[in-house]
Amino acid sequence: MNQSPLSRSGVFQSGPDELLQRFSQSVSFDCRLAAQDIRQSKAHVQMLATVGLLTEEEATRIQQTLDQIGREIQEGRFQFRTELEDVHMNIEQALIDRLGDLGRKLHTARSRNDQVSTDLRLWCREAIGEIQRLLRELQRAFLSRCDQDAGVILPAYTHLQRAQPVLAAHYWLAYCERFQRDRQRLQDALARVNQCPLGTAALAGTSLPVDRHLVARLLEFQAPTANSLDSSGDRDFVLETAFGFSMVALHLSGWAEEWILWSSVEFGFLRLPEALCTGSSIMPQKVNPDPLELIRGKAARVVGDLTTLLVLLKGLPLAYNRDLQEDKPPLFDAFDTLRDCLQIAAAAVPRAKLDRERIAAGLEAGYLDATTLMEYLIARGVPQRVAHHAVGQLVRRAMQQKVPLKELPLEEFRAVWPEADPGVYEVLGVRRAVEAFGSYGSTAPEQVQQQIARWKKCLELE
Ligand code: ARG
Repeated sequence: MNQSPLSRSGVFQSGPDELLQRFSQSVSFDCRLAAQDIRQSKAHVQMLATVGLLTEEEATRIQQTLDQIGREIQEGRFQFRTELEDVHMNIEQALIDRLGDLGRKLHTARSRNDQVSTDLRLWCREAIGEIQRLLRELQRAFLSRCDQDAGVILPAYTHLQRAQPVLAAHYWLAYCERFQRDRQRLQDALARVNQCPLGTAALAGTSLPVDRHLVARLLEFQAPTANSLDSSGDRDFVLETAFGFSMVALHLSGWAEEWILWSSVEFGFLRLPEALCTGSSIMPQKVNPDPLELIRGKAARVVGDLTTLLVLLKGLPLAYNRDLQEDKPPLFDAFDTLRDCLQIAAAAVPRAKLDRERIAAGLEAGYLDATTLMEYLIARGVPQRVAHHAVGQLVRRAMQQKVPLKELPLEEFRAVWPEADPGVYEVLGVRRAVEAFGSYGSTAPEQVQQQIARWKKCLELE
């Protein structure tokens, strides 16, 4: 029998236009799925042998040849050809070139639609695992700072205005929490990534006696997908993965922004390691936090990738449409970008130094203890709204005298709140304010200690 190129059956009388070949090829980027494609094909072949669509001997020969092709690809000795369109047909053609008609049996009961979706799910599964691993490294880096910065108090901000004092460790654990949610979010997405579409074929299934449960098990999927029409064009799992990545990128961008501010002369809280800073080509005094700015900037790219994917899927009718080929470049880019950002962040976090003196010197500015003072009054029976107003008046008096609340004479307190006694000074000053906290999850030193212990267990640092 005459043979036509893999994607053109005998219905065609001519080959594709060269312009179309260049336009429609995806091998330049989906070659990244080669390992997944080979793994999948090997499992597929094993299943075909189990159900009797191949002999054991045929299956073994195909698998061995696939392994050989896989090695060549890994070692850079394989020539991908654009005219073969995508990674799937490049590998299949190589198999046919080596095994002839036996190679032509590989695609039995399979379409490129279920094939590409399976490959991509395998890829997403690995990518999620890698991002989760890097997130854990970053969490460990933040946690390690808790001991390093023990006892340091920082101002915390709302609206970027000084609000209340918190332990530095409370800041670091706040990031541990965010990245933990990111890890969990990706884990949740994994439940839907980890379904196997292989064997749904083009869109309706197959009349051949395949065992979809077996192939799903062989590829370590949770289960086969339940509706062939749905899974043919389902890329929800790509979106969820990209969204999970985007949340990490957003969290990183907020942290980066915070540290950019902190490393400015105006804040002066933090010095980045010199090896992670850059200079200016014109201003000799400059030491710039470029890696942090790039992390902030690259978040735009990851979100852009997610946006591309969202719009790509908009309005697509059921089952495979070629638009879906465009899912890979943004997905790969989001992963690569995020992986780099996480690596840089994990390098920067443990090596940055807090300027304890500078932080301490500025700490009494901004009336960070005002809320604690208000709560002191509330605890003594003053209604919240009255206490709120009274402390506002006290802050005004302190501002006029250019002193912190703890240096305001007792008469001033009595002028606003006649019952005031010297006990009021026990909650004034940032250190005492921090110690006055007690609620679960607050910055109270014993609360933070409990959280540090919990995180050490959770991240297996103890
Ligand atoms: N390269 C294609 C993609 O990534 C593979 C699936 C092609 N399927 C098809 N029916 N043309 O989407």
